[in-house]
Amino acid sequence: MVFLSSHTPRKDGHQPLSKFTEGLSTLVVGFAFLVLVSAYFIHNPSSFSRPQPPPPGEPHWKYKPTPPPKPPVIEHFPRAASAKAPSDLPSVPSWNTPPSPHVNESTPLFIGFARTWELLQQCVVSYIAAGWPPGDIYVVENTGTMDANRLGRLTLQNPLYLDYKRLTDAFGVNVITAPTLLSFAQLQNLFLYIAISNGWDHYFWGHMDVAVLSNEAWEDPETGEYKNLYMRAVDDIREARRTRDEPDDQGRTGGWAIRFYAYDRLALVNRTAFEQVGGWDPMIPYYATDCDMHSRLFMSGFKQGDVSVGRIFDVAGSLEDVELLYHRDPVDPRLDDSDPDLHPTLADILPEDVRGGAAFEHLQGKLQDLNDAKGHGDRLRWQGVQQGGQGEPYYRDAEGFQQSIVMLAEQGKKIMAEKWGHRGCNLKGLKFEDAWKVEHDWE
Ligand SMILES: *[C@@H]1O[C@H](CO)[C@@H](O)[C@H](O)[C@H]1NC(C)=O
Ligand SMILES: *[C@@H]1O[C@H](CO)[C@@H](O)[C@H](O)[C@H]1NC(C)=O
Repeated sequence: MVFLSSHTPRKDGHQPLSKFTEGLSTLVVGFAFLVLVSAYFIHNPSSFSRPQPPPPGEPHWKYKPTPPPKPPVIEHFPRAASAKAPSDLPSVPSWNTPPSPHVNESTPLFIGFARTWELLQQCVVSYIAAGWPPGDIYVVENTGTMDANRLGRLTLQNPLYLDYKRLTDAFGVNVITAPTLLSFAQLQNLFLYIAISNGWDHYFWGHMDVAVLSNEAWEDPETGEYKNLYMRAVDDIREARRTRDEPDDQGRTGGWAIRFYAYDRLALVNRTAFEQVGGWDPMIPYYATDCDMHSRLFMSGFKQGDVSVGRIFDVAGSLEDVELLYHRDPVDPRLDDSDPDLHPTLADILPEDVRGGAAFEHLQGKLQDLNDAKGHGDRLRWQGVQQGGQGEPYYRDAEGFQQSIVMLAEQGKKIMAEKWGHRGCNLKGLKFEDAWKVEHDWE
């Protein structure tokens, strides 16, 4: 009877006694451990993760001067503020309407959003107006505010504010929210991961501080046909496939890794090439991480190219009225700013202009002005135009947030130098396997 025997004391009586002493010694050891741990924490108050009571006496903190208030940001697309669907907005200029049905190639475009809604809105609308199918645009919200924007809990003056419903309902684009705040390198790896998950063998990614414009004078040299920015990007996917095995000017035949359109303001990524080199290095969070990535692709024999598909302006502010991107006639009297009742955002939607017409010229001039203004000022100033959001979910001090990122970026440059034994981006002569293996070349 196995069941009974296990409860029957053994004849020699040793077993129960040794069990008792075993239990006792466990208790003693456990108690001693507790005493030691408590003693340690009592003598090392900094080890507590709980806040400590303030020291006695006068408070000794000295506060920084309060930064001067910034003017509140304003609505740059009044009509979109009340739009519930794309049909409430002007239609895309007829010469830039996306092909229907969709081209055979998949054309997902990722736009990462860090902060400053007015720039994101302008960027997204500019791609739509240049012919990109809205359903192919993926805004990747990287604010670290979890579901706060989706639930509409942040306000316009908050740097991390994004109008989720306007993006999905009025503009018809997708929004993916990063689960926590990611660095630039981590965000790039998220793009890669989303592409892998969706089975896309390539994808586009673009900066949010740009506005794009089709070159409306451009015609296909072979057919004489006008092509908008989107169709020229599609053509470039086809061109990359056609030339994948052709050697480049350095004899590289490993296929294309990336094609740049105006630096990396917009780029086409070959997913498998990026996977093959192990993705972006998350230890180099901001600056220099692109140098690390593109150098490793280069060392691995992949080709990289620069191609033009249209105009891509680098901007730090928004058009006063984003509706200009839809090419409505700018000489229409209703555009006269001096009479608010005649302003087009309050009036009916104006008829479209013609391709390359006065509306295009007017718009191109305005975007060029924004581009030039950015070139003259502090390039990152756009990241600090909003100051509000106090009391809202996941509130962060705007200046502190900015300062933290600058410090992380600086640290990343140092890690980059350690990784390759070299300061700066000239890694000539180094091989893929040399990472972390070479001594400093500056000593
Ligand atoms: C797109 O795919 C369809 C179906 O496979 C094919 O008939 C068509 O020729 C393709 N179009 C182009 C432009 O390759
Ligand atoms: C994409 O990268 C793979 C390597 O993973 C390569 O074989 C292929 O040729 C590349 N595609 C193009 C279009 O260059």
